[in-house]
Amino acid sequence: MIKPLGSDKLMPLYVEDDAKRAELQKEAEGLPSIVISSAAAGNAVMLAGGYFTPLTGFMNVADSMGVAQNMKTTSGQFWPTPVLNVVEDASAIKDAKRIALLDPNVEGNPVLAIQDVEAIEEFTDEQMATMTKEIYGTDDPEHIGVATFNAVGKTCISGPIQVLNFSYFPKDFPGTFKTAVEIRNEISERGWEKVVAFQTRNPMHLAHEELCRMAYEDEKADGILIHMLLGKLKKGDIPADVRDNCIRKMVETYFPPNTVMVTGYGFDMLYAGPREAVLHACFRQNCGCTHLIVGRDHAGVGDYYGPFDAQTIFDNISKDDLQIDIYRADHTAFSKKLGKVVMMSRVEDHTKDDFVLLSGTKVREMLGQGIKPPKEFSRPEVADILIAYYQSL
Ligand code: ADX
Repeated sequence: MIKPLGSDKLMPLYVEDDAKRAELQKEAEGLPSIVISSAAAGNAVMLAGGYFTPLTGFMNVADSMGVAQNMKTTSGQFWPTPVLNVVEDASAIKDAKRIALLDPNVEGNPVLAIQDVEAIEEFTDEQMATMTKEIYGTDDPEHIGVATFNAVGKTCISGPIQVLNFSYFPKDFPGTFKTAVEIRNEISERGWEKVVAFQTRNPMHLAHEELCRMAYEDEKADGILIHMLLGKLKKGDIPADVRDNCIRKMVETYFPPNTVMVTGYGFDMLYAGPREAVLHACFRQNCGCTHLIVGRDHAGVGDYYGPFDAQTIFDNISKDDLQIDIYRADHTAFSKKLGKVVMMSRVEDHTKDDFVLLSGTKVREMLGQGIKPPKEFSRPEVADILIAYYQSL
């Protein structure tokens, strides 16, 4: 099985032992505490589940700058995005060596993790600007990821963590939220060697479904991991439970049994396009996947990124740093001529009119009016779930 990133085994930071966890929970109640940002909480949940192996906690300023500029920490570990616990004001935990990190996303702000504080440093405005540009490729404050990244403060609390729970994800998404440890184990139990991962933050339409099938067939894979984002998205995106229902229905109806695992991970969307694609690749390798599908405008937003920038970024990444392979997909759409979904670049004799192409806005409009998009675009079972959702708004 493909090894985790930079390590022979996964390094989940969740404290598995019940007695130890109870002890830490008790200790946390007496520690100085701080409510962290949703982004930091997502980082903690990813670290907890082994997704961010081999990292052991939150990065300091030097590591964050190294990662932002060269995708390397100061010790030379490959990683594409800073894993930060930044706050506006750390005065509540001044001089503390150990602190409790409180969950901003659960009522009552329970303890999510304990952190050993190695340093409390300030990012300068210049450093914030450099990181923003490197990670997001733009400093436009209208970019949702840029805005979120710059809205949580500049005080950087670094150091290792021990995580006590997985926030709201197991309760809100039972059966779908999985840790990297669980996914790796399940892949191994199924006896799968070659596994294609599909990242998604959308309900899956026919093009997405066929993209998975194409990758599965082209790579002669043993299975497909559909791995959906369960954390926060921008306004207007479809909630995770609705997407989950759509995906499950589609898999159950249209894929043979035992070819697809439907799972999700607890992390907020960054909308960082190419850099986020690399992050996606890192944690799918940690899940035990050999391939990640990267298609058109992967993890993009608006028109900040070129449609295939999230593929070309991998051209300059060494196999020594990242072992998972990228399945590069061109724009997929239904060909009226051939009666099936194809990659547009593979059918040179086609013109635009030969494809069924619908904009996201058009599809939302139709669903909102209770109109099913054509079956060449969306499976009717999926459309029914989406219509029910839009009509409930
Ligand atoms: S993402 O932000 O999570 O990447 P989304 O769920 O829309 O968004 O896409 C999941 C994956 O499918 C990404 O790799 C994306 O590039 C790819 N994709 C989505 N639609 C198409 C399409 N029509 N053609 C090619 N690739 C696509």
